[in-house]
Amino acid sequence: MASAAQMTSAQQIPEFTAFVESLRAIWSANADNKERMEQAKPMLEKFVMEPAIKAHSANWPSTEGHKNLLLYVDPDYDFVINAVVRVPGRKGSIHDHADAWVLYGLLDGTESLERYDRIDDGSRPDYAELKLSSVTTGTQGKVDLVPPRNIHAEQGGPTRSVAVIVRSQKLGQGTVLQGRYDPLTNVRSEGYGPTQVPYELLA
Ligand SMILES: [Fe+2]
Repeated sequence: MASAAQMTSAQQIPEFTAFVESLRAIWSANADNKERMEQAKPMLEKFVMEPAIKAHSANWPSTEGHKNLLLYVDPDYDFVINAVVRVPGRKGSIHDHADAWVLYGLLDGTESLERYDRIDDGSRPDYAELKLSSVTTGTQGKVDLVPPRNIHAEQGGPTRSVAVIVRSQKLGQGTVLQGRYDPLTNVRSEGYGPTQVPYELLA
């Protein structure tokens, strides 16, 4: 049986604690979410290159079924840190993040980020014509900054892949409605983002 000392020794991995502190410093010094995210981008690039984080993520559970691991919610600034763990060949659907700014950083495997332009006049909330504007394939260390309402899809690669996400606000059930897009029918709908599954990064 574990002793009391052992039971209280479960602490957050230090690389994650340092990452959170670096983000809090940025958020406290800037009020603008665009500036915050631009300054946080090199922090996330560094974080997803940490060998200890990549090794730790080998045990993170799959987020199949429209889920996100919820690693951290900031009590003062409302930013959150999520993770996604995709199965090989995962097909991502086309969506936006409503008002949220998002940094999407690859930690393991490969993924492709597809970006779309909306080519209709945007006058109908339930209709959107899309045109694929770019596809970038990334490996560990690649971080994408996704602005509010940017239309995109994340596609899994040939192996399991893991990404760490910094969001300016929490998404998911009961938060804000995000746009979803069907490129075959041009139907635009709205729905909540992934189910948030709390998950602590313990040493
Ligand atoms: Fe996304």
